[in-house]
Amino acid sequence: MAGAGTGENSAYPSFSSRIAFIIVTAGSAVGLGNVWGFPYVAGQNGGGGFVLIYLLALALVAAPAFMAELMLGRMGKASPPTALGRLQAKVGSKLHWPLVGWTGLVGTILVLSFYAVIAGQAMDYMLEAAGGGFAGWSDADVQALDANFKSSMPMMALWSAIFMGLTALIVSFDINTGLEQAGKVMMPLLLLILLGMVIYSGNMGDFGKAVDFLFGFHEMEFTPRLFLEAMGQAFFTLGVGVGGIMTYGSYMGRDVNLPRATFWIVAMDVFVALAAGLAIFPLVFSSGVDAAAGPGLVFLTLPLIFADIPGGAVVAFAFFLLLTFAAVTSSISLLSPTVARLEEAGWSRRRGATVMAALVVGISLLTSYSFAGGKDVFPLAALGLGGMTFFDLIREGVSNFILPLSGLAYALMVGWALSREDVRQALPMADGPLFRAWHMVIRYVAPICITALFVGAVAG
Ligand code: PHE
Repeated sequence: MAGAGTGENSAYPSFSSRIAFIIVTAGSAVGLGNVWGFPYVAGQNGGGGFVLIYLLALALVAAPAFMAELMLGRMGKASPPTALGRLQAKVGSKLHWPLVGWTGLVGTILVLSFYAVIAGQAMDYMLEAAGGGFAGWSDADVQALDANFKSSMPMMALWSAIFMGLTALIVSFDINTGLEQAGKVMMPLLLLILLGMVIYSGNMGDFGKAVDFLFGFHEMEFTPRLFLEAMGQAFFTLGVGVGGIMTYGSYMGRDVNLPRATFWIVAMDVFVALAAGLAIFPLVFSSGVDAAAGPGLVFLTLPLIFADIPGGAVVAFAFFLLLTFAAVTSSISLLSPTVARLEEAGWSRRRGATVMAALVVGISLLTSYSFAGGKDVFPLAALGLGGMTFFDLIREGVSNFILPLSGLAYALMVGWALSREDVRQALPMADGPLFRAWHMVIRYVAPICITALFVGAVAG
């Protein structure tokens, strides 16, 4: 059996090689958050200064927490609640660690519930482009396509179901046939398309302005909210905090050098986010549309540009295919933890994946509703959260709260509850200054930053 050579419990599945582990886990990290989310969040927050804080949040908080999550998975070798329960017993803690795992599982379902709708729109646009769409369209045509999609709940539900069907299909297989093959096929293609887009965009658009927008310094206000958004984005983009990474960590062989793998995965994730920005913003600036368009940036603003450029349909197809690949390689990691937990309860992977996918499609109706009839329905207005739809509440609730709080929990588990010796043993290849630096970060820097940001956001 693949991965059996890694020693340990050979009945437990394992990715077939180090590189397979890195590719599949990078697939989890690289997702809608990079290609759809990063450009619009950076655009809305004014570019440069936000990007800097985002990179700092990644380096100081999210990436160390990511490594902690992978490590907990490799040590616990089970679904997140079970793995954390084992580790709790091992260290003899009185706190209820599995609760963090269960919260994560709820988080995966919530993320998938809006992921499916956004990815569904990407697939719908891909189909449109495949039929020669976008090229030569008027602004009204583009607006109508977006408006029609977002006003039709049946349409959104149908696409969500197709996307979740595909996700469930991949997850149904054993991990080497399903998750691993999907990553190996889609990730290289994704990188190739992205590079092509950056080159195209650099030639056709205003590259200098895009670089200045993303990396230059601009007058801006550094509010506590901006910090929270940057941290939320950093957690989301790596996928830390819901147990997807922990589950992949459980499939990681002993032969993987964990810090080095973390470095490559984080580097790839940052690269894709910045490259997506460099593919999108040159076109945005050369055509004079608004960089701060918000969540509609890739579905409303970008297609306006595809309509006017040479080869628009081909570029549009490539772009939405890229977005779909990014979404699928992440959604399979989001479905994996619950399926792993159900397997422990004796379910087959196919049954677990099917039932969970169906549940996600049901909950995705909340997001569809927020785009359609419920555009102005703000369920928590009475709690001072006016102006936030179900979608806004789910997206921000997960990114800005569940993920960083779970990250905090992981940091405390690895930094404080597990002994330094346990941690050292889990990382046999790392015992130098870098290990000590990371251990300091996970003990002090990350927990303090997360707590400070929460206090700041609540007080602000
Ligand atoms: N990292 C993914 C993205 O950027 C989303 C994700 C969140 C994946 C949580 C796994 C877990 O789109």
